[in-house]
Amino acid sequence: MPLLAIETTCDETAAAIISPERQVLSSVVASQDELHARWRGVVPEIASRAHVERIIPVIDQAIRKAGIQQSQLRAVAVAIRPGLIGSLLVGLSAGKAIAATLRIPLIGYDHLAAHLYASRLTFGKEVTYPAIGLVASGGHTSLFQLNNPIVLQTLGGTIDDAIGEAFDKVASLLGLGYPGGPQIEQLALRGNPRSYRFPRPLSNDSSRLDFSFSGLKTAVRYQIQPPGKTTPRYLSDQERADLAASFQQAAVDSVVAKVSLAIQKTGCRLVVVGGGVTANKILRSALEKLGEQHRAKILIPPIHLCTDNAAMGAIAWEHIERNEIADLELDVLPNVYRKKKQQPKRRDASHR
Ligand code: KG4
Ligand code: ZN
Repeated sequence: MPLLAIETTCDETAAAIISPERQVLSSVVASQDELHARWRGVVPEIASRAHVERIIPVIDQAIRKAGIQQSQLRAVAVAIRPGLIGSLLVGLSAGKAIAATLRIPLIGYDHLAAHLYASRLTFGKEVTYPAIGLVASGGHTSLFQLNNPIVLQTLGGTIDDAIGEAFDKVASLLGLGYPGGPQIEQLALRGNPRSYRFPRPLSNDSSRLDFSFSGLKTAVRYQIQPPGKTTPRYLSDQERADLAASFQQAAVDSVVAKVSLAIQKTGCRLVVVGGGVTANKILRSALEKLGEQHRAKILIPPIHLCTDNAAMGAIAWEHIERNEIADLELDVLPNVYRKKKQQPKRRDASHR
């Protein structure tokens, strides 16, 4: 009997039906891109409202497409972390309602671990552990060590913007639509990646596996609107394409440098990747090349499994096999991977 997986961490409302053998019987993704496009980024309030409207039709459609009845569901699994709090809560509420009415187990799964589990759907038993995991998405740019599919040990992460965020912001500076990643990729096809030498922050720092994209984004901004100027300068079509290509190359180089370092530091020769930005063809081929250089296996899922979807909720079977079943008290954890800010030292009251 299959399970129903639900994904509402950001701005896609998604549901999938997956068999215990990890066969995806159906996968439905309702994108909200058109709702957020005019804001050139995800507006959390709009996202949660749209999830509320779409979640039931999307689940119904997934069940219908799989050719099963609701009563045949063995469990319901929900992505509960990390993500936008309002969006996460919509998926969790739907999951709880289904678990309670059908009297079936409820499972909470991690969205980033699920992105990395997308490889398992494509490459099956080729995915072994330990492995290195790279997540490059709109909210995260992180490297993990995985000793099993469900526990991610952080090796490094971004110290400022996520890579997808940088793609979206640069797209907005270039007057492109949202989501920016695919549009930058498209525009960059006509550009020269060597026309502008943008920074690759932290890339040469071999002491850490962290990323930084905010300086790169600012460097692009200054090319478009030089410091001190109040308006952007005129850009020819070729200049825009060159900017897109040069930015994309710098972002890709930054990621590849740290994946390379992670392979050297850990000695692990298997890398699984996931997240929306890994749909980028320049990044995919750079990672493939890196794999050849290091004689490492870099497993990159097909594009429809890189961007947000519920098929990767197949990871819930790993939880079921470990008897990790939740109850109706299950809650969301929106910021689980965020580094804790150092608390300011509390002044001793006697010094006041
Ligand atoms: O994983 P995802 O669908 O959602 C999050 O969990 O964040 O990633 C969305 C991000 C967006 O920033 C989008 O611009 C970026 O992935 N993206 C791309 C491409 N396709 C999506 N970035 C670069 N090139 C692409 N082809
Ligand atoms: Zn994602």
